[in-house]
Amino acid sequence: MSDRPRRLRRTAAMRDLCAETRLHPSSLIQPHFVVPDDKADHPIDALPGISHMGVEPLLKRVETDLEYGVRSVLLFGVTDDKHPEGRSGEHATAPAQRATEALKKRFGEDLTVMTDVCLCTYTDHGHCGVIKAGKVDNELTLPRLAAQARSLAEAGADVIAPSDMMDGRVRAIRCELDEHGFGDVAIMAYAAKYASSFYGPFREAADSAPKEVGPKDRKTYQMDYRNSLEAVREAMLDAEEGADILMVKPAMPYLDIIAHVKANADRPLAAYLVSGEYAMVNLLVREGLAKEADIVREHFTAVRRAGADILITYHARKALQEGWL
Ligand code: PBG
Repeated sequence: MSDRPRRLRRTAAMRDLCAETRLHPSSLIQPHFVVPDDKADHPIDALPGISHMGVEPLLKRVETDLEYGVRSVLLFGVTDDKHPEGRSGEHATAPAQRATEALKKRFGEDLTVMTDVCLCTYTDHGHCGVIKAGKVDNELTLPRLAAQARSLAEAGADVIAPSDMMDGRVRAIRCELDEHGFGDVAIMAYAAKYASSFYGPFREAADSAPKEVGPKDRKTYQMDYRNSLEAVREAMLDAEEGADILMVKPAMPYLDIIAHVKANADRPLAAYLVSGEYAMVNLLVREGLAKEADIVREHFTAVRRAGADILITYHARKALQEGWL
């Protein structure tokens, strides 16, 4: 036997030396759910370890997280101020805008503030776009997304992350940002975002599930999970329209998609380890069926190995705090 792969697995030092995939703190993004009450700090039942936070606890949390090495956050505004067109998401006083402003003022260039752009937390029907004649209307939605993106850029966001899956939204947002002097603000596009059952805990946290008006699900805008060529098409389109970073979402059940997009794209690729994946991992740990550090490291590494450069994960802060990487 001349070829013995086990030779390189003999010691931990040798395994580390030969590892093809490495994890680095800088590639992690921590999501946060921001609410209007400045002092609020309420744990979210559906996402253990994650809280609805107002600006004050958020600033404290981000400060300690920065010490552990969490240098990027992705903000989701959560509010009861809901209307058919989701315009409350465009106000300078909306939770995500206020949090962005406070974070940038306090931490400046030490922290990259990314903000989700979508209508679903701001619409009374819970859809990611404006509804007309019972359908989610693409053209009516684009100006609303652009206005929300501009308002977040005005608040100081470094990166705008549209998650709505309307056609042409990256171009609409890029044009709006450029016209208003925000040429430096980057776009991270949820390029291949699938209509997935793995978003359940998030929808509870963001109060963003589709309600009785309009389609019963998001299948007319989010992708069909039977498709992978379409993911490449979506990624190419977003890149052409001006996306600086592309994203695949969810991550773990979509490793093939991450690999496909990575092979075809010429810019950084992010993967979103979504709320349902987080819940699955936590469940195994809670039931004593897996060690948290080990399973989180494996989850991160698998997604990196598939081709993701950047990981958006609810486990970011704990992983760095506990030194799991
Ligand atoms: C909003 C949005 C969703 C997620 C991120 N942005 C939910 C959805 O599309 O219904 C899901 C994130 C997660 O599950 O962690 N459009």
